[in-house]
Amino acid sequence: MVLSPADKTNVQAVWNKIGRLDTYGWEALDRMFMSFPTTKTYFAHFDLSPGSAQIQQQGKKVADALALAAANMDDLPGALSSLSDLHAHKLRVDPVNFKLLTHSLLVSLATNYPEEFNPAVHASLDKFLASVSTVLTSKYR
Ligand code: HEM
Repeated sequence: MVLSPADKTNVQAVWNKIGRLDTYGWEALDRMFMSFPTTKTYFAHFDLSPGSAQIQQQGKKVADALALAAANMDDLPGALSSLSDLHAHKLRVDPVNFKLLTHSLLVSLATNYPEEFNPAVHASLDKFLASVSTVLTSKYR
């Protein structure tokens, strides 16, 4: 997956707009748990009622990681190295779940930022999230 210069511009424009308003992260987790209940197995130790404090905290962590990725699109493997170790070796998250979270993130971004979310931006965000997912699942054996 190669992000073109236009993709990078589109992704950066959305993240500039998001700024510190990162509620889309936990909204996306709520959507993922509701639409794809098998994903809940990884978070069995969480209070999974919609909008719980733990889901909000986790959503903030995911949003912060994506902001870091958006700021380092030329070196995603370097920027996400420790997260890649975590998801592959410690958590052992099945890669299929990254598609489910990506879908949920796209829906949340679209509903929170409808004016920015035109078809070209949608395509660039999809590529960006696929690239992040590739890095986070790259250390599976
Ligand atoms: C865009 C993709 C993803 C990003 C950016 C991401 C990011 C993160 C971050 C930043 C953390 C916290 C790491 C820390 O505390 O040091 C984390 C933890 C975790 N992630 Fe992910 N993640 C992604 C996808 C997934 C998926 C698809 C699953 C499973 C469905 C998952 C399951 C977990 C679990 C179980 C934890 C540990 C939660 C806890 O016990 O506190 N992640 N992730």
